[in-house]
Amino acid sequence: MEQKINLNLIDKEQVPTSEPERQYYFMEIAKQYVSRLAEQKGEPLTFHVTTFGCQMNARDSEKLIGILEYIGYVEGASEDADFSIYNTCTVRENANNKVYGRLGGLGNSKKKNPFMMIALCGCMMQEPSVVEKLQKSYRFVNLIFGTHNIYKFAELIVTTIENSFCFPEAKKSIMTIDIWKETDQIVEDLPAERKYFFKSGINIMFGCDNFCSYCIVPYVRGRERSREPKEIVREIEHLVKDGVVEVMLLGQNVNSYGKTLETPMTFAQLLTEIEKIEGLERIRFMTSHPKDLSDELIAVMKASKKICHHLHLPLQSGSDRMLKVMNRHYDKAHYLRLVEKLREAVPDLALTTDIIVGFPGETEEDFLDTLDVVRKVGYDSAFTFLYSKRTGTPAAAMEEQVPEDIVKRRFDLLLSEVQRIGAQKAKKLEGRILPVLIEQRNEQDAQLVTGRLDNNSVVHLPGDDSMIGKIQNVRLKECKGFYYIGEAVD
Ligand code: SAH
Ligand code: SF4
Ligand code: F3S
Repeated sequence: MEQKINLNLIDKEQVPTSEPERQYYFMEIAKQYVSRLAEQKGEPLTFHVTTFGCQMNARDSEKLIGILEYIGYVEGASEDADFSIYNTCTVRENANNKVYGRLGGLGNSKKKNPFMMIALCGCMMQEPSVVEKLQKSYRFVNLIFGTHNIYKFAELIVTTIENSFCFPEAKKSIMTIDIWKETDQIVEDLPAERKYFFKSGINIMFGCDNFCSYCIVPYVRGRERSREPKEIVREIEHLVKDGVVEVMLLGQNVNSYGKTLETPMTFAQLLTEIEKIEGLERIRFMTSHPKDLSDELIAVMKASKKICHHLHLPLQSGSDRMLKVMNRHYDKAHYLRLVEKLREAVPDLALTTDIIVGFPGETEEDFLDTLDVVRKVGYDSAFTFLYSKRTGTPAAAMEEQVPEDIVKRRFDLLLSEVQRIGAQKAKKLEGRILPVLIEQRNEQDAQLVTGRLDNNSVVHLPGDDSMIGKIQNVRLKECKGFYYIGEAVD
């Protein structure tokens, strides 16, 4: 059975040229298409967004969901929804493999559901070789778009619905593909959904200009551009009115915030403005690049009542030689000095990091330098990654790839060290009474709720739904390695 809606709702004369008005126009059209299709199906159409990758992608998915709900789709529990979307990541090769691995299953679901559409978006789509492969071998995908034109999602949905349902004879062959290489446009005021009613991610900037030699992000996310501070403050004020108590400010390198603004402003100055927002209780941010972490920021963190005592400060490597070829613009001594200053200012600061093992040319001595920093800093936790070669980055052309067995041995050693130190750190808080933002009912045990300390550690405690979204004092009764069992106290 082919679905068909005989509609052509777009009045070319009426389409606004400015944003976000243009997208609101397309949302109204999409609403009508979705409602016609739902009538034919006899029930509301469902959507499902699968998010891969980092917090940036998670926030983008909330924007996609905001638009999908606005136009009348309802969230479905599984990937086999009427509109299934993969928001992809490409930071490491295995991120790409995951997508290809699961896409086949979606194709089979589509064969059984004549209302189904499939979209792929996000960082992986910014790679021409990926799009070529999809065009050749995954013809069942209806829509492909990238990271730069996500704000045009409503418009893209209208085109995709028209291609899929208004002209059934072309249904199988039309793939809507719209990938932009670059944009400096930032469109404000589009709908966005939130996964939690009490906390939210906020983009303060987009893109990255750092070009660390292993990293693909600058190529798929474009040049660094900051949002206007008044737009950021306005968005947070609005969220706080709507029940949000915790925000996570997002950027690939938040410490260089504001450089591209007409009236430049520092990240520390932005934080000072956000601190003033009444009703907001916790401020988090990520990621901080060590090369741009200023004394001004450390002073603001020290004085703040709202900035959480947790900093994610990617190290990548502890070896000066590696840091140089990685194009990180700091050395081991600078990093350790930063940590010292941070701890002087905020003594109970939790520190977490990212480390890459097996970067081309990494020697045993380089690796020992990394281990040395890990031990000296004493991270609360760390993400450790096996180096992954990304085509198009400078590191991909470096010849001295480290043999797999050596990388594996180093990785295992680093991981066990990171875990040992992290567990020791966590144990120190046992017995303390600390505030916990209760986030959700525990997934395994309905008698428990789960929340996070200021330092981002997870705590489980007896409780009920009425506690969700509130900050509760909790006695940390027992440390279980990386989480705590607690009890509420007044
Ligand atoms: N902008 C952030 C993080 C971006 S990606 C920052 O600068 O810290 C998250 C992490 O992925 C990086 O910190 C890095 O440790 C890791 N990563 C990036 N490219 C990688 C690659 N090619 N191989 C392995 N890990 C990589
Ligand atoms: Fe990648 Fe470096 Fe930019 Fe982070 S700062 S996104 S690691 S290029
Ligand atoms: Fe991945 Fe893109 Fe984030 S490549 S890590 S989803 S910016």
